[in-house]
Amino acid sequence: MDDEKEIPKNLQREDDEETMNLISSLPSDVDFDGKELFKYQGCWYENKILLGILNFQRGFEPQDTDIVIASFPKSGTTWLKALTVALLERSKHSSDDHPLLLDNPHGLVPYLELIFKTSKPDLTNISSSPRLFSTHVAFQTLREALKNSPCKIVYVWRNVKDVLVSFWHFQCAIRKIEEEGSMLESIFESFCRGVISHGPFWEHVLSYWKGSLEDPKNVLFLKYEELKTDPNVQLKKLAEFLGCPFTVEEEESGSVEEILDLCSLRNLKNLEINKTGKMPGGASHKIFFRKGEVGDSKNYLTPQMEERIDMIIQEKFRGSDIKF
Ligand code: A3P
Repeated sequence: MDDEKEIPKNLQREDDEETMNLISSLPSDVDFDGKELFKYQGCWYENKILLGILNFQRGFEPQDTDIVIASFPKSGTTWLKALTVALLERSKHSSDDHPLLLDNPHGLVPYLELIFKTSKPDLTNISSSPRLFSTHVAFQTLREALKNSPCKIVYVWRNVKDVLVSFWHFQCAIRKIEEEGSMLESIFESFCRGVISHGPFWEHVLSYWKGSLEDPKNVLFLKYEELKTDPNVQLKKLAEFLGCPFTVEEEESGSVEEILDLCSLRNLKNLEINKTGKMPGGASHKIFFRKGEVGDSKNYLTPQMEERIDMIIQEKFRGSDIKF
């Protein structure tokens, strides 16, 4: 594939000419917003994210105990980050000094491609063990950065229609505009063409699905809808996978339910830090918490839109056991 070029090993600066040359040699297209995207290792990324990805692939030094939370945007990342933090931090904090009361889940679990916006970030200040990171890149791109290290990867995926509608609401919230039908239509077109940041959606999901089949010990494939319908079972599965299963005493004392309550949409949304806090880039924490309902897309997509996306999904996921 012409977008899978070797990255020269000697690159150091983020604005290195060779990096820029590499990016400009990749296939490019524009998304719903007219933003130029570049196709790298099968998925589309905007220029500044791609710089971070290239730096991250070259410069990241994984530790075997690292945990990476991965997702396509708007698939339940915030929830999974909160659950993972709460799992790993359980019994270390009182109800007053829990990390989730002090920062938004995205502040606690940073994106690797954003950390690596500078080519040599200082990761020594990450004191937690295991270190917790996140990413929106596709599996093949992440795996290259992890360089055969047996880090644990947890991927959350969600019904494409709800992802699309959630993405649209998020774009409106960032722009501080009322939900506009025309933007939903253009986002829908971008999704269907696959030319959307981090897309195509199906390439992304299938990359982690295959990764989880090949390496089930280190890649967990979680479904947002199952987290909603069966949270206890899914949280226990996550704990087992991360090597910190609940003890019988913990289960009997209600530790599972405590974590689920702490990380519920209702609770997180109402925490002061999430009502009033802002991300370093200026976006409000509150825009990460909306309805969290399964099937909300029915309220916005026309029957024709649903039919078209159903046909695409049927074709793209043929041969996999992924069911929407
Ligand atoms: P909706 O827009 O459908 O409400 P991400 O975290 O990947 O950006 O995904 C955002 C979606 O997850 C939003 O969906 C948001 O409301 C939902 N969400 C955020 N926190 C959640 C939680 N604690 N439980 C369930 N859903 C949550």
